[in-house]
Amino acid sequence: MPRVAQLYFRTAIIFLIVGIAMGLNMAISQDHSAIGAHAHANLLGWVTMAIFGGYHALNPAKSERRLAIIQYCIYTAGVTLMVPALYLMLTGSPSMEPVVAVASLITFAGVLLFAVIIFSSGTSVTRPAAAH
Ligand code: HEM
Ligand code: HEM
Repeated sequence: MPRVAQLYFRTAIIFLIVGIAMGLNMAISQDHSAIGAHAHANLLGWVTMAIFGGYHALNPAKSERRLAIIQYCIYTAGVTLMVPALYLMLTGSPSMEPVVAVASLITFAGVLLFAVIIFSSGTSVTRPAAAH
């Protein structure tokens, strides 16, 4: 599997563990105020990252490009900042709202970069085949 696909799946499963932990905590405490952080950890984290990783696994030539790792870093930084900030905002720290806003925009930038990857042509331009 291409490295960036592996990275995406490893990051995604961490968000699923964190997302489910938040879900269980909500269910057990019967306090559902963190619902937005739970939903977005699972959906922006586990689901979307697994789709991004799956796309790279199916398109290994694109996953070798520098843009692939740049997109991974920007998207992952956005979601990693957004989820805990959203959790804190929803559970009693409204002052976290500007952090959530900035993190959301970083996440969105990551999504737009993934659109560039999807719409770019499928052939690898960065690494010529090794001469054996
Ligand atoms: C054992 C695992 C999970 C537990 C215990 C759990 C628990 C919960 C709880 C307690 C709520 C709040 C329900 C409400 O107040 O109406 C909720 C909402 C939600 N959960 Fe989970 N969850 C789990 C896994 C997941 C996963 C894997 C996903 C996505 C892939 C997910 C997506 C959502 C979404 C989108 C909502 C919001 C639904 C709405 O807006 O009505 N959950 N979950
Ligand atoms: C940076 C990206 C995103 C932003 C800024 C965002 C923002 C929001 C906002 C403001 C709400 C309303 C919350 C409320 O009523 O309290 C919401 C709800 C929701 N969003 Fe997103 N969203 C994003 C990405 C996504 C994605 C990619 C998915 C699905 C793959 C998704 C699924 C949902 C769901 C299921 C709800 C309803 C559950 C809830 O109340 O939290 N969102 N989102």
